Amino acid sequence: MSVACIVVAAGRGERLGQERPKAFVEVGGRPLIWHALQAASRSARVAHVVVVAPDGYEGDPALSGADTVVPGGATRQHSVANGLAVLPPDADVVLIHDAARCLAPPSLYDDVAADVLAGHDAVVPGVAVVDTLKVVDGAGLVTATPDRTELRAVQTPQGFARTVIERAHAAAVERGDTDAPDDAALVERLGLPVHVVAGHADAFKVTRPQDLLLASTVLARRAA
Ligand code: CTP
Ligand code: MG
Repeated sequence: MSVACIVVAAGRGERLGQERPKAFVEVGGRPLIWHALQAASRSARVAHVVVVAPDGYEGDPALSGADTVVPGGATRQHSVANGLAVLPPDADVVLIHDAARCLAPPSLYDDVAADVLAGHDAVVPGVAVVDTLKVVDGAGLVTATPDRTELRAVQTPQGFARTVIERAHAAAVERGDTDAPDDAALVERLGLPVHVVAGHADAFKVTRPQDLLLASTVLARRAA
């Protein structure tokens, strides 16, 4: 069984609001995607890494840790599909990771891959939700308060049996879905189980400017 990892890095990073694509914004003196590729390459389980890159960045030196680089698509789902299309023939387990979760530790890749190899065809890392979440209608009125103990904030890398994630993406195309919230959601649509393993605090997603402050603090703590 061989494990490949697709790192999607082709988003613009609108909410971060910098000129360059988010994956190429630097923290600790290196682009986010460089940090993500470091972690992927340090995972004992990952044998092959595909990066899905924004236009014009395919040859960037920050991607030297990748085995294969492909261009991105209009949505995250399209970018993942571009990565799936170039997996090596022997990859039967696929991890799909957001470059924006650049500090997810190698142990998280290992844990997710191990859970797929143990027989779960779809695996997501999840952490407890800290905020109370409300369901709100179009008029701004709260319609429900879900029980927080049943909720998880889900991270990446998410891991899949290759046949399952390929089938899930093909079914999404047939339905006309173009922008799935995550890859596991496409597996859920097939009616197949998705298993949750413990996530990691460092696997937070760099989304807004203040997330860069947290990322640089985590890096400084690791270097100390
Ligand atoms: N992504 C991608 N291709 C896209 C959109 C997103 O490869 N067309 C990637 C991003 O590079 C990121 C991951 O999917 O690593 C998660 O997406 P998100 O955090 O939403 O990043 P962006 O879409 O770049 O940010 P924003 O939504 O703020 O524009
Ligand atoms: Mg986005």
